[in-house]
Amino acid sequence: MPAGLLGIEELDRTEIESILERAKHFQPIQSQAFKKSDVLRGRMVVNLFFEASTRTRTSFEIAAKRLGADAVSITASGSSVSKGESLVDTLNTLAAMRPDAIIMRHSASGAPHFLARYLPIPIINAGDGTHEHPTQALLDALTIRDQKGTIEGLRVAIIGDIAHSRVARSNVQLLAKFGTEVVLCGPASLVPPELARLAAGVTLTHDIHEAIRDADVVMMLRVQLERQHEAAFPASEYFRFYGLRLEHLDLAKPDAIVMHPGPINRGRELSSDVADSHRSMILNQVENGIAVRMAVLERILGQ
Ligand code: CP
Repeated sequence: MPAGLLGIEELDRTEIESILERAKHFQPIQSQAFKKSDVLRGRMVVNLFFEASTRTRTSFEIAAKRLGADAVSITASGSSVSKGESLVDTLNTLAAMRPDAIIMRHSASGAPHFLARYLPIPIINAGDGTHEHPTQALLDALTIRDQKGTIEGLRVAIIGDIAHSRVARSNVQLLAKFGTEVVLCGPASLVPPELARLAAGVTLTHDIHEAIRDADVVMMLRVQLERQHEAAFPASEYFRFYGLRLEHLDLAKPDAIVMHPGPINRGRELSSDVADSHRSMILNQVENGIAVRMAVLERILGQ
């Protein structure tokens, strides 16, 4: 079967470093546009998104076009899925149109893995349920490396709805390959004890102050209301205990950075003054999303 990208779990440290190196090459210099190349001229990628997305879908589309490929985007609401077509029938239909790769987001964990077993086309996972979001972890790693010069030897606090977060799982997988210390933090209902077994070097706490103390990176996560089956915390109560405010950052290292994969909810997981502060790397992450996805598409389709 052709190799796509299903998860960080399948990549070793050397492969991750090679993607990050290549992504650096695609980063824009100061206010210039992203670099252009025609390495994928004549190739076609299909963005198939069964869940909402702003950042991932748009940046994959831009990345494909910057490399000279044609890109088509399909969302569940605009496709025949809304008329009852099954996932397999939709994918077989798209495969018959001979795209060179399918980039897929789906609410079911493992959906891209299932398709990768049946379709003779590389599948790139753009987020599957609560399982993995590999290109998010790669762009987060690039952002950390840009700011800190390294990923090794850092303390990274990941705070919020860890239980439902594919971003947290992919980041933990990646950071563990670099021996990074990872602290997962949130209310007990959103940070169950089994998460400590995700990888070596992972610890859990329900105290935001403990998580942030001496952190180099504070990564905030959205509360994924769409994946919760029980009544959620009211926003004000959640913010009181787990929302990041400027005063919390006094506990972190003096040059600590704040990250968030987006979409952000101001007043729930972080305050506006944190989101808009010089510590916030939220828009750097978005920018790095294009560079990383160019590196991933080139790696998969550029041979
Ligand atoms: N970070 C992320 O996956 O954002 P989108 O849901 O907007 O793609």
